[in-house]
Amino acid sequence: MIDEIRRITDEARAGIAAASTLEELRAVDAAVFGRRSALTVLKRGLGGLGPDERRAAGLALNDAREALETELAARRRVLEAAERRARLEAERLDLTEVEPARRRGSMHLVTQTVERLEDVFVGMGFTVSEGPEVETDFYNFEALNIPASHPARGMWDTLYVELGEPESTVLRTHTSPVQIRVMQAQEPPIHTVMPGRVFRRDTADASHMPVFHQIEGLVVDRDISFADLAGTLEEFTAAYFGGSIHSRLRPSYFPFTEPSAEYDINCLFCEGTGCRTCGGTGWMELGGCGMVHPNVFRAVGYDPEEWRGFAFGFGMDRLALNRHGVDDIRELFTNDVRFLEQF
Ligand code: PHE
Repeated sequence: MIDEIRRITDEARAGIAAASTLEELRAVDAAVFGRRSALTVLKRGLGGLGPDERRAAGLALNDAREALETELAARRRVLEAAERRARLEAERLDLTEVEPARRRGSMHLVTQTVERLEDVFVGMGFTVSEGPEVETDFYNFEALNIPASHPARGMWDTLYVELGEPESTVLRTHTSPVQIRVMQAQEPPIHTVMPGRVFRRDTADASHMPVFHQIEGLVVDRDISFADLAGTLEEFTAAYFGGSIHSRLRPSYFPFTEPSAEYDINCLFCEGTGCRTCGGTGWMELGGCGMVHPNVFRAVGYDPEEWRGFAFGFGMDRLALNRHGVDDIRELFTNDVRFLEQF
């Protein structure tokens, strides 16, 4: 009987090993342990044996059962894992697939404008830098030569953030604080532009928003002159707007530049002949500029005797609107897909 048990066990082992799916394994399970299986038949036959033989055969039968159960369970785990892998593979979705024929969204008008501006400035040798939208009084004002209670603070209707000491944290009113951060982070020479969102206490109408976009420029090197500033802005104007649009500088005042100027370009509608949009002047005001004030260099630890620089900053929203003949700045922020889809 012991030999018979061994033979049956070996056969069952081969069956378990050969099962290649869970279904086949279930069939092997039933064949080995089922009511009509060879093992069960042998077990029933135990009663007809003598006591010693019966004990030996009973033990051998139990051992065989246990061994086969263990092997079955192990094989089941292997097959389950394989089937799970196969199912996952079959259910996998390729989410990177694109349908080239169908247009899926587009860049926001302002983003397109930022990228076009960056392209032009990068082509002129500038890098692109960024800074935070929530700023401290130091970066937005103090380091830009606008001490507390300076009357020039009135040039910016500031939105304050309730953080720290009262009025110590602001939503930046211009991109000029990024000049300070760039200079603190590196040594001259610097040629960088800094695009970003700025915030002012303003009521929304067709040409004003409490949130808008500026791009700042900063150049610091030895022997930089006002002529470099004027030449750079003229070069940029021609490169960005085309050769028929020119720039001019008018004397102005900013605390962080000296001398300071307004940066105007020929009206983009009439190209300088005078129309309703430009009030007949032929010019449009774009932003401010000037030679970096020595106090600004001192605030970042640069020696004003050694370094010279110029800076400029202008609004980008109007450029985005002009390009497509949109006449309401609020459209840029409403984010109505029916509007945005057109660009
Ligand atoms: N930051 C100024 C403004 O927002 C513009 C400016 C930038 C002027 C750089 C001079 C130099 O009005």
